[in-house]
Amino acid sequence: MIDILRTRRSIRRYRTGRIEPEPIKLIEESLLRSPSSRGINPWRFILVDDPDLLGKLSEAKEHGSTFLKGAALGIVVCGDESESDVWVEDCSIASIVVQLVAHSLGLGSCWIQIRNRFHSSGMSAEDYIRELLAIPKNVRVLSIISVGHPAETKQPVPADRLQRKKIMRNRYGSR
Ligand SMILES: Cc1cc2nc3c(=O)[nH]c(=O)nc-3n(C[C@H](O)[C@H](O)[C@H](O)COP(=O)(O)O)c2cc1C
Repeated sequence: MIDILRTRRSIRRYRTGRIEPEPIKLIEESLLRSPSSRGINPWRFILVDDPDLLGKLSEAKEHGSTFLKGAALGIVVCGDESESDVWVEDCSIASIVVQLVAHSLGLGSCWIQIRNRFHSSGMSAEDYIRELLAIPKNVRVLSIISVGHPAETKQPVPADRLQRKKIMRNRYGSR
Protein backbone atom coordinates (compact mmCIF):
# COMPACT_ATOMS: atom_id res chain seq x y z
CA MET A 1 0.00 0.00 0.00
CA ILE A 2 2.73 2.48 0.88
CA ASP A 3 4.33 1.87 -2.53
CA ILE A 4 1.02 2.63 -4.21
CA LEU A 5 0.85 5.91 -2.28
CA ARG A 6 4.48 6.76 -3.00
CA THR A 7 4.15 6.30 -6.75
CA ARG A 8 0.62 7.61 -7.35
CA ARG A 9 0.41 10.82 -9.35
CA SER A 10 -2.38 12.52 -11.28
CA ILE A 11 -2.22 11.32 -14.87
CA ARG A 12 -3.97 13.48 -17.46
CA ARG A 13 -2.56 12.10 -20.72
CA TYR A 14 -3.71 8.72 -21.97
CA ARG A 15 -2.96 6.32 -24.78
CA THR A 16 -5.90 5.31 -26.92
CA GLY A 17 -7.45 1.97 -26.14
CA ARG A 18 -10.24 0.77 -23.92
CA ILE A 19 -9.84 -0.75 -20.50
CA GLU A 20 -10.24 -4.53 -20.46
CA PRO A 21 -13.31 -6.08 -18.78
CA GLU A 22 -11.26 -7.58 -15.88
CA PRO A 23 -9.83 -4.26 -14.62
CA ILE A 24 -13.25 -2.68 -15.10
CA LYS A 25 -14.69 -5.32 -12.77
CA LEU A 26 -12.02 -4.54 -10.17
CA ILE A 27 -12.71 -0.83 -10.53
CA GLU A 28 -16.40 -1.47 -9.91
CA GLU A 29 -15.64 -3.68 -6.91
CA SER A 30 -13.32 -1.07 -5.39
CA LEU A 31 -16.03 1.60 -5.68
CA LEU A 32 -18.55 -0.64 -3.96
CA ARG A 33 -16.10 -1.62 -1.20
CA SER A 34 -15.44 2.01 -0.23
CA PRO A 35 -16.40 2.73 3.36
CA SER A 36 -19.24 5.16 4.02
CA SER A 37 -20.69 6.77 7.11
CA ARG A 38 -23.03 4.36 8.92
CA GLY A 39 -22.69 2.04 5.92
CA ILE A 40 -25.41 3.99 4.14
CA ASN A 41 -23.57 3.92 0.80
CA PRO A 42 -25.28 7.05 -0.60
CA TRP A 43 -23.09 6.99 -3.69
CA ARG A 44 -24.02 6.28 -7.30
CA PHE A 45 -21.32 5.72 -9.93
CA ILE A 46 -21.88 6.30 -13.63
CA LEU A 47 -19.16 4.68 -15.73
CA VAL A 48 -18.96 6.60 -18.98
CA ASP A 49 -17.01 5.15 -21.90
CA ASP A 50 -19.03 6.65 -24.76
CA PRO A 51 -16.54 8.97 -26.57
CA ASP A 52 -19.27 11.48 -27.42
CA LEU A 53 -20.36 11.73 -23.78
CA LEU A 54 -16.75 11.90 -22.59
CA GLY A 55 -16.24 14.85 -24.96
CA LYS A 56 -19.29 16.61 -23.56
CA LEU A 57 -18.30 15.85 -19.95
CA SER A 58 -14.83 17.28 -20.64
CA GLU A 59 -16.56 20.64 -21.13
CA ALA A 60 -18.36 20.49 -17.78
CA LYS A 61 -16.21 23.30 -16.42
CA GLU A 62 -13.93 25.95 -17.82
CA HIS A 63 -10.60 24.64 -16.55
CA GLY A 64 -9.20 21.34 -15.41
CA SER A 65 -11.42 18.88 -17.26
CA THR A 66 -10.47 19.04 -20.95
CA PHE A 67 -8.22 15.96 -20.76
CA LEU A 68 -11.27 13.80 -20.00
CA LYS A 69 -12.00 13.58 -23.71
CA GLY A 70 -8.78 11.56 -24.13
CA ALA A 71 -9.61 9.11 -21.35
CA ALA A 72 -10.99 5.60 -21.84
CA LEU A 73 -13.34 6.00 -18.90
CA GLY A 74 -14.88 8.70 -16.76
CA ILE A 75 -16.36 7.65 -13.44
CA VAL A 76 -19.00 10.19 -12.47
CA VAL A 77 -19.13 10.00 -8.68
CA CYS A 78 -22.53 11.04 -7.35
CA GLY A 79 -24.22 10.95 -3.97
CA ASP A 80 -27.87 11.03 -2.95
CA GLU A 81 -28.00 13.89 -0.47
CA SER A 82 -31.40 12.73 0.78
CA GLU A 83 -29.75 9.54 2.04
CA SER A 84 -26.81 11.04 3.92
CA ASP A 85 -25.65 14.45 5.17
CA VAL A 86 -22.05 13.35 4.66
CA TRP A 87 -22.35 12.26 1.04
CA VAL A 88 -19.40 14.56 0.20
CA GLU A 89 -17.11 12.60 2.49
CA ASP A 90 -18.45 9.25 1.30
CA CYS A 91 -18.04 10.19 -2.35
CA SER A 92 -14.56 11.61 -1.71
CA ILE A 93 -13.44 8.36 -0.14
CA ALA A 94 -14.76 6.34 -3.10
CA SER A 95 -13.01 8.77 -5.49
CA ILE A 96 -9.59 8.30 -3.93
CA VAL A 97 -10.03 4.57 -3.35
CA VAL A 98 -10.73 4.01 -7.03
CA GLN A 99 -7.74 6.18 -8.00
CA LEU A 100 -5.45 4.06 -5.85
CA VAL A 101 -6.87 0.83 -7.29
CA ALA A 102 -6.53 2.19 -10.84
CA HIS A 103 -2.87 2.96 -10.13
CA SER A 104 -2.34 -0.53 -8.69
CA LEU A 105 -3.68 -1.90 -12.00
CA GLY A 106 -1.20 0.17 -14.04
CA LEU A 107 -3.85 2.68 -15.09
CA GLY A 108 -3.57 6.45 -14.84
CA SER A 109 -6.29 8.59 -13.33
CA CYS A 110 -7.12 12.11 -12.27
CA TRP A 111 -9.78 13.63 -10.02
CA ILE A 112 -11.90 16.26 -11.76
CA GLN A 113 -13.73 18.42 -9.23
CA ILE A 114 -17.37 19.07 -10.13
CA ARG A 115 -19.11 20.18 -6.92
CA ASN A 116 -18.81 23.99 -6.51
CA ARG A 117 -17.46 24.40 -10.05
CA PHE A 118 -19.06 26.12 -13.04
CA HIS A 119 -19.67 25.53 -16.74
CA SER A 120 -18.59 28.35 -19.09
CA SER A 121 -22.29 29.31 -19.53
CA GLY A 122 -22.47 30.18 -15.83
CA MET A 123 -24.59 27.18 -14.89
CA SER A 124 -23.14 24.86 -12.30
CA ALA A 125 -20.99 22.02 -13.57
CA GLU A 126 -23.28 19.74 -11.56
CA ASP A 127 -26.41 20.91 -13.41
CA TYR A 128 -24.65 20.59 -16.75
CA ILE A 129 -23.78 16.95 -15.97
CA ARG A 130 -27.17 16.24 -14.41
CA GLU A 131 -28.85 17.31 -17.64
CA LEU A 132 -26.39 15.42 -19.85
CA LEU A 133 -26.68 12.13 -17.96
CA ALA A 134 -30.31 12.39 -16.76
CA ILE A 135 -29.31 12.41 -13.09
CA PRO A 136 -32.21 13.11 -10.69
CA LYS A 137 -32.26 16.36 -8.68
CA ASN A 138 -31.58 14.79 -5.26
CA VAL A 139 -28.43 13.16 -6.60
CA ARG A 140 -25.40 15.44 -6.37
CA VAL A 141 -22.24 15.18 -8.45
CA LEU A 142 -18.97 15.37 -6.56
CA SER A 143 -16.30 14.46 -9.07
CA ILE A 144 -15.39 12.67 -12.25
CA ILE A 145 -12.44 10.32 -12.10
CA SER A 146 -10.79 10.06 -15.51
CA VAL A 147 -9.09 6.72 -16.14
CA GLY A 148 -6.96 5.43 -19.00
CA HIS A 149 -3.72 3.82 -20.04
CA PRO A 150 -1.04 6.33 -19.07
CA ALA A 151 0.77 8.28 -21.79
CA GLU A 152 2.91 10.21 -19.31
CA THR A 153 5.10 9.22 -16.40
CA LYS A 154 5.60 11.34 -13.34
CA GLN A 155 8.17 11.01 -10.63
CA PRO A 156 6.99 10.28 -7.10
CA VAL A 157 7.19 13.25 -4.75
CA PRO A 158 10.55 12.76 -2.99
CA ALA A 159 10.31 11.94 0.72
CA ASP A 160 12.29 15.08 1.63
CA ARG A 161 9.64 17.25 -0.04
CA LEU A 162 6.84 16.02 2.22
CA GLN A 163 5.46 18.81 4.42
CA ARG A 164 6.49 17.26 7.69
CA LYS A 165 5.63 20.38 9.71
CA LYS A 166 1.97 19.61 9.06
CA ILE A 167 2.27 16.63 11.39
CA MET A 168 2.03 17.69 15.03
CA ARG A 169 2.30 15.87 18.31
CA ASN A 170 -0.35 16.11 21.01
CA ARG A 171 -1.01 19.86 20.56
CA TYR A 172 -1.38 22.14 17.55
CA GLY A 173 2.01 23.58 16.59
CA SER A 174 3.92 21.19 18.79
CA ARG A 175 6.44 18.94 17.12
C1 LIG B 1 -10.42 17.35 -4.29
C2 LIG B 1 -9.54 17.35 -5.52
C3 LIG B 1 -9.94 18.04 -6.64
C4 LIG B 1 -9.16 18.03 -7.80
N1 LIG B 1 -9.65 18.64 -8.92
C5 LIG B 1 -8.93 18.58 -10.05
C6 LIG B 1 -9.46 19.10 -11.27
O1 LIG B 1 -10.59 19.58 -11.32
N2 LIG B 1 -8.68 19.03 -12.38
C7 LIG B 1 -7.44 18.47 -12.37
O2 LIG B 1 -6.79 18.45 -13.42
N3 LIG B 1 -6.89 17.95 -11.23
C8 LIG B 1 -7.61 17.98 -10.09
N4 LIG B 1 -7.13 17.40 -8.95
C9 LIG B 1 -5.79 16.78 -8.94
C10 LIG B 1 -4.81 17.65 -8.18
O3 LIG B 1 -4.52 18.80 -8.94
C11 LIG B 1 -3.55 16.85 -7.86
O4 LIG B 1 -3.89 15.74 -7.07
C12 LIG B 1 -2.50 17.69 -7.13
O5 LIG B 1 -2.04 18.74 -7.94
C13 LIG B 1 -1.30 16.86 -6.68
O6 LIG B 1 -0.70 16.21 -7.78
P1 LIG B 1 -0.54 14.61 -7.81
O7 LIG B 1 -1.93 14.03 -7.72
O8 LIG B 1 0.14 14.29 -9.10
O9 LIG B 1 0.28 14.20 -6.61
C14 LIG B 1 -7.91 17.36 -7.80
C15 LIG B 1 -7.51 16.66 -6.66
C16 LIG B 1 -8.31 16.64 -5.54
C17 LIG B 1 -7.88 15.82 -4.34
